[in-house]
Amino acid sequence: SGLFTYDPGFLSTASNNSSITFIDGDEGILLYRGYPIEQLALHCDFIDVCYLLLQGELPMPEQKSEFDHAIKNHSMLHEQLVRFYSGFRRDAHPMAVMVGVVGALSAFYHDALNISDPVHREQSAFRLIAKLPTITAMAYKYNIGQPFVYPQNHLSYAENFLHMMFSVPTEKYEANPVIVRALDRILILHADHEQNASTSTVRLAGSSGANPFACVSAGISCLWGPAHGGANEACLRMLEEIGDVSRIDEFIQRAKNKEDNYRLMGFGHRVYKNMDPRAKLMRETCHEVLNELGLHNDRLFKLALQLEKIALEDDYFISRKLYPNVDFYSGIVQRALGIPTSMFTAIFAMARTVGWVAQWSEMVSDPDYKIGRPRQLYTGPVMRDIPISFSQ
Ligand code: CMC
Repeated sequence: SGLFTYDPGFLSTASNNSSITFIDGDEGILLYRGYPIEQLALHCDFIDVCYLLLQGELPMPEQKSEFDHAIKNHSMLHEQLVRFYSGFRRDAHPMAVMVGVVGALSAFYHDALNISDPVHREQSAFRLIAKLPTITAMAYKYNIGQPFVYPQNHLSYAENFLHMMFSVPTEKYEANPVIVRALDRILILHADHEQNASTSTVRLAGSSGANPFACVSAGISCLWGPAHGGANEACLRMLEEIGDVSRIDEFIQRAKNKEDNYRLMGFGHRVYKNMDPRAKLMRETCHEVLNELGLHNDRLFKLALQLEKIALEDDYFISRKLYPNVDFYSGIVQRALGIPTSMFTAIFAMARTVGWVAQWSEMVSDPDYKIGRPRQLYTGPVMRDIPISFSQ
């Protein structure tokens, strides 16, 4: 009983107002602050997009350099936090490390945790955006047993991340500009996506007044699942498992079989009932990157194109409006960039951090925000007395 609506999975419940991101799922449109994702991907870099998401407008050149400088100021990790890594097993999944390390940031920045103060909010946002690449790259270096590489503030956001991932003390590392540009595009395409599960998690955690580091750590936890950000890793593993064009049909039949809860990873979306515009851009990037790196015969890319073609001609996928989503091609691009599969979702988290903090900040600066508190339909026993044996 009660006067509320039953809406499991929030299929038809808007939880908040937001002026950050707009999606028209039927038309396949995605706008950040009104700007189409296609234009942003073509003409902007990730720092422009961060500024846009946080401040509402694209930056003028001097605003951009001031903002970039303010972010870079925070790119180092506290040495005490660097030591935190050694508590993890060497084979810890990078996402497990990130949940822990990002949450632990809360213990380091008591100087700016007054969430009602816009200066404190900005300080926390900058710290998170700046430290995520360092934290993410260190999770990888820890996995492979190489020394941590500290950030280089003269490099761009994407370039610095590649430097921390791939440079070793014995050799000079210079990132290939094709790889830098492709990574920057991945970051732009993942930066925000309105009220998806992890962003809603960040908002719900933040609605109690919890600090932003704890909230983003909650967001990372939610993103990890294969139905959400974990799909890029799962999709690449699926393509590897299919292995050959001749086996596509077998996997399509499995995905269609209602007795089997197997799903084609990288297909379907709660909001897009048309092609995910990010998937289109990612497919284009995939073509460009593979051509420029001389990998145009990439086996998995050919397999993915064929799988997409067959699925899009199949009644099961047509009738349910199941199209490839952003995760379908992003794994192939990242693999071509030399990024190991276990890092895919971690890079998604790094990119989405700006969206999470922009949404968190929008929420806590709204004078009308309330603690998030869904209701339920109770299905347990009616009221009853405890058995006599307990009441004696
Ligand atoms: N393969 C096979 N069937 C599917 C798939 C799929 N990937 N996705 C949905 N369906 C079917 C589902 O079985 C259901 O069929 P029926 O109506 O016969 O019961 C119908 O399509 C509707 O699915 P749903 O589960 O009600 O849809 P949802 O909006 O709750 O789920 C989703 C959306 C993204 C979780 C789901 O499509 C999925 O699990 N996809 C695979 C994982 C994936 O690629 N996730 C990444 C999403 S985009 C990036 C991100 O969010 O991080």
